[in-house]
Formats: sequence, C-alpha cells, structure tokens
Amino acid sequence: MTKTLVVATGNPGKLREMQAYLANSGWELTLKPEDLDVDETGETFVANACLKASEVAKATGSWAIADDSGLAVDALNGSPGVYSARYGKTDAERISRLLRELGYTENRQAQFVCAVAVANPAGEIVLQSEGICRGEILYTTRGEGGFGYDPIFYVPEKQLTFAEMSPELKKSISHRGNALKNLVPQLVKVLG
Ligand code: IMP
Repeated sequence: MTKTLVVATGNPGKLREMQAYLANSGWELTLKPEDLDVDETGETFVANACLKASEVAKATGSWAIADDSGLAVDALNGSPGVYSARYGKTDAERISRLLRELGYTENRQAQFVCAVAVANPAGEIVLQSEGICRGEILYTTRGEGGFGYDPIFYVPEKQLTFAEMSPELKKSISHRGNALKNLVPQLVKVLG
C-alpha cells in the first residue's frame, strides 16, 4: 500500500536529498502547500523538526516528514546553529558573516547537524532521528555544487568541500544522509 508523505520544506536542495533517500521506500512524496509556513520557534534542531512535521501533518491531514538542520561552529559556541537559515538574507551573506565572525581563529572545527521527524495525520510524532557530519570551515569558498554553507565546509577525510562533492558522495556522508539512513527502515515498517 502506498501512503502519502508530505515533505515539510520549501528548500529544493533538501527536497532533492530527501527524495533520493526515500525513492524506494514505498512512500509517495509530495511537497507541502506553498502558503503553509511554520515558524521555527524551537531552541533545538529536534524541537523544530517535530514542530514542523506535526503542524504540516495536522494542516494537510497526511503523514508529514520535516527536518531542521544547520551548521554549528565549535569556536563560535555552536553558532549559527538553529539560526543558520536566519544568519543573513542570502547564502553569500550568511557565508561572509560566518567567515567574518570566525576571522583568523585557528580552531576551524564545525559540524552540520540534522534532525528529522515524522508525524502521523493526527500530528503525533511517530519517528525521530538525528545525524551529524564533522568538518572544518575554510577561509574562502571552494566548489560550485550543493547549497547553503556547502562551499566553506571541508571534510578532511574526502579532501573536498560539500560543494565539490557529487550529490551521491555528499548524500553518503552528510548529516541529512545520516539522519535519513536511520529513519528509512523505520518508515518502511510503518507502511506495514
Ligand atoms: P532549515 O531550513 O531551518 O533547516 O535551515 C537550514 C540552514 O542551514 C540553511 O541556511 C542552510 O543553508 C543550512 N544548511 C542545512 N543543511 C545544509 C547543507 O547540507 N549544506 C549547506 N548548508 C546547509
């Protein structure tokens, strides 16, 4: 049996990554209505993912999946964190603000974090998962792919930034990939 899962995001980059993960899960993915926006008022990634999944499920009467993600920089005490999307108006502004605030600080350690939550049509949270990916913040951008902070996020094990990786490679090691990897088998079980 196929069930509809509404993806609670307006971000095409995220949607593509989620689609790739859930392609053979038996769920039919649809995008949330454009005018349905949920304020991210939570103080943690998990709280925001749960809030979005629950509100979108209740509003649409369908199952819903939501994620909340961001970049936490060690030397900035975890900033921009849950404020990653609100750190500037455009990706370029967000990147330059981060590089400015970090300056020439030697400790460039950082991690992307992603929390994913699934709510049933009543808005109850049924599944939750969190994934991280550790890396380093470069001094300047490298690469053209991906979105968001990808051009300054360098993964030493691969000697590439997220923006230099193929979508497949990024998916296999990213915070979102790690969160979804844990969740997909559980989602398949829910279909029964
Ligand atoms: P959200 O839509 O509230 O989850 O905000 C996520 C923010 O973190 C956005 O500003 C993105 O640019 C950034 N972000 C999340 N995941 C990634 C990623 O995989 N690459 C680059 N930036 C990301």
